[in-house]
Amino acid sequence: MINAAITAVGHYLPEGRLTNADLEKMVDTSDEWIRTRTGIEERRILKDPDKATSYMAIEASKMILERRNIDPDEIDTIIVGTVTPDMLFPSTACLVQFGLGASNAWGFDVSAACSGFLFALSSGVSFIESGHSKKVLVIGADKMSSIVDYTDRTSCIIFGDGAGAVLLEPTEDGHGVLDSVEYTDGSNWRILCMHGGGSLHPATRETVDQRMHFLTQDGQHVFRYAVQGMADVSREIMKRNNLTGDDIRYLVPHQANQRIIDATARRIGITMEKVMINIRNYGNTTAATIPLCLADWESELRRGDNLILAAFGGGFTWGSSYVKWAYDGSPDSES
Ligand code: UT7
Repeated sequence: MINAAITAVGHYLPEGRLTNADLEKMVDTSDEWIRTRTGIEERRILKDPDKATSYMAIEASKMILERRNIDPDEIDTIIVGTVTPDMLFPSTACLVQFGLGASNAWGFDVSAACSGFLFALSSGVSFIESGHSKKVLVIGADKMSSIVDYTDRTSCIIFGDGAGAVLLEPTEDGHGVLDSVEYTDGSNWRILCMHGGGSLHPATRETVDQRMHFLTQDGQHVFRYAVQGMADVSREIMKRNNLTGDDIRYLVPHQANQRIIDATARRIGITMEKVMINIRNYGNTTAATIPLCLADWESELRRGDNLILAAFGGGFTWGSSYVKWAYDGSPDSES
């Protein structure tokens, strides 16, 4: 039985910081409101106008290649979860392939909003399990600042920029991504979307005037569905793998709102010290949140640790993966 193991993690966070104090000067909000309603204190912003999502995805991937001493030619497949591709086409994966010099790789983007990394991950797992690929780069990367309306206080306080990546490789020792479940419900597409820029509403003077090239959301609706969706899907994957809260080393939730994370953990019976949370420092980086958590906690992870990854996002899309971690610590910490 061949499983796909996560054998390395990489990440990239831009230097630029957008604090709650900065936002207080931009919209009618307060540090107190943002912290208590979302748990966020600051976000990273890619300020260089010549750089976009592919830049962050390439940097996160380079980190993996360097740490593992892997030649770019060895990569077979590149899958990028993103809703902020550099352009509509070519895909971000093409730009990553070029940027890395991964001359033997093919690749594509997965558009699943906040579930982008998990959907990309289960796609990558299939290529490993089928024997199609031996080395798959799965990346979650978003430059949310490119589609956030910084006059809309209900959404601009949430999002940040960043990228995280994992390497998938085959293993037969029972570790790896052991199970995944995914859902979509397109009936709720309007609740969290960006109306302009696609084939329905291509860019015109009117679409710009009507601010249709910015993300829009009904926050309360998303909140309710997210709590339910993340908890249900995590419970489902735990149940079918005979896992209880005690068996789980870490819940790795999408970082959309601290209150969504708290409610999810409570509903599935996982205590807060076993939940990866870094929303305070980065906000919601959409497809990048889960691999950024893995990067932040990598040094603490041990071979055999059971992780439940869970996400919910626009579409709606949601899903969960059960991962038996395949290695000890991080190469940098020499643990
Ligand atoms: O990853 C998927 C992406 N999106 C999400 O996951 C979003 C999920 N939703 C949320 O995180 C929350 O719904 C928000 C953070 C967006 C909003 O928090 P909330 O607790 O649901 O606030 P609300 O929309 O119920 O608004 C409560 C009040 C309203 O004022 P009134 O009508 O009670 O006077 C809002 O106008 O808070 C007001 N408000 C703000 N006040 C200060 C909304 N945004 C802000 C703000 N600063 N930034």
